[in-house]
Amino acid sequence: MLALALGCGPPPTYSEHIAPILQSKCQSCHRPGQIAPMSLVSYQDAQTWAGLIGVSIEMGNMPPFYADGPADYFRGDLRLSDDEKDLIHDWVAAGAPEGDPALAPAPVDWPDSPWPLGEPDLVIDFPRHSPPRNFKDQHITFVTDYVFPDDTWVKALHLRTESKKAVHHSTQFLWNPEHKVPRNGKSFDHVPPRRALFTWFPGFLTEPLPEGQALLIPKGARVASRTHFGPTKEKRNERMQLGVYFADGTVDSLQKHVGVQMTDIKIPPRDSHYEHRKHTFLPEAALVSHFRIHMHLRGKAAQVLFHYPDGRTEKVFDLPRYRFAWQRYYYLAEPLPAPKGTKVEFVGVWDNSADNPLNPNPNVWCGWGRRTVDEMFGGSVFYTPQRKLAQPLKIEKGRLVEGSMQGASSGLL
Ligand code: HEC
Repeated sequence: MLALALGCGPPPTYSEHIAPILQSKCQSCHRPGQIAPMSLVSYQDAQTWAGLIGVSIEMGNMPPFYADGPADYFRGDLRLSDDEKDLIHDWVAAGAPEGDPALAPAPVDWPDSPWPLGEPDLVIDFPRHSPPRNFKDQHITFVTDYVFPDDTWVKALHLRTESKKAVHHSTQFLWNPEHKVPRNGKSFDHVPPRRALFTWFPGFLTEPLPEGQALLIPKGARVASRTHFGPTKEKRNERMQLGVYFADGTVDSLQKHVGVQMTDIKIPPRDSHYEHRKHTFLPEAALVSHFRIHMHLRGKAAQVLFHYPDGRTEKVFDLPRYRFAWQRYYYLAEPLPAPKGTKVEFVGVWDNSADNPLNPNPNVWCGWGRRTVDEMFGGSVFYTPQRKLAQPLKIEKGRLVEGSMQGASSGLL
């Protein structure tokens, strides 16, 4: 290792040094049928893209994991270690040699499915839709034909969109049996989300709920989606699909969240670092599991601070670089306990300067708004109450087989 860093000794090779990194940090997306634009599963692939891989890693764009924190803090942490970055750098500089193929690790046996978690137990289609090509945002509610025939406990949900670039975001929620289904399953009226399941943003990555948790979709419910199409001039014919993964095993806790919306932001023209804060409180003793931040094109960075009732302050989530294209949940490796009354403070930072390549107009004041060219800050901290369910539930293939659902019907992904 030291020899490599000093530039003496043989250069790193694909077979021995690079393939293991691509397998563990890149191929979850860079393989056929997944969200990345090219595959990185063979030597041929890696050699073709070597130059771009070097540049992308140097710029900190890839892998797309932008939170900061100790090495063992996050689950699904994609960050490369300094050693791994050096290996890739030296390998690219040496002309991307293959080395001895016999030394390469066996290929990973990825599920052969366009769904990142493998084939779902149930796939629900949303109605097809073509957003207008008039450069305007469009908000639309879709309601599916599918009606859940029974109470169904779910471990994970994933939304697939065909035109990743057209969808700004899409909130999935439950459509109660008593509500009238709009004609063709589409409505342009504002429908307030009733019980939100999850919100898909560009860069959304599906993770199953943590151990001991599941989400209930009640009998008779349909899934609806409030979807925001961003301005587009290309012809799109979008069909979203929801993949449902049934829960199996014991459920002893439910998921909840606290969050803020900063509606009073006022970003001066050309300001490269506008900061704004807002807080809320934990209403009960919690085990915190994950975080999510939503801003628009001027979003630059974000933090979550916990001010504990005993006076201590801790930075529990640090996102030094916000990227609109990569809004994802960041899961903790271990749940973080926090007492009732903890003040949860969110910090948002925006860049309204011309140096921000995504900035639609650096010369205007920018405030909160629903259009992509306006700004937002939505921050969420997800947790489960420290008090577990008195009677754990037993679930088999999504059905409750033991325990009572009394008081256990909330939760969101
Ligand atoms: C979570 C999914 C995901 C992972 C993991 C991932 N990529 Fe990507 N990658 C993408 C997507 C999607 C794009 C298209 C550009 C974008 O959306 O940012 C991309 C683009 C790229 C590009 C094109 C240049 C660029 O920066 O846009 C390179 C090179 C690349 N990835 C290399 C890698 C390498 C090397 C790794 C592992 C160290 C990796 N990626 C891990 C999803 C991923």
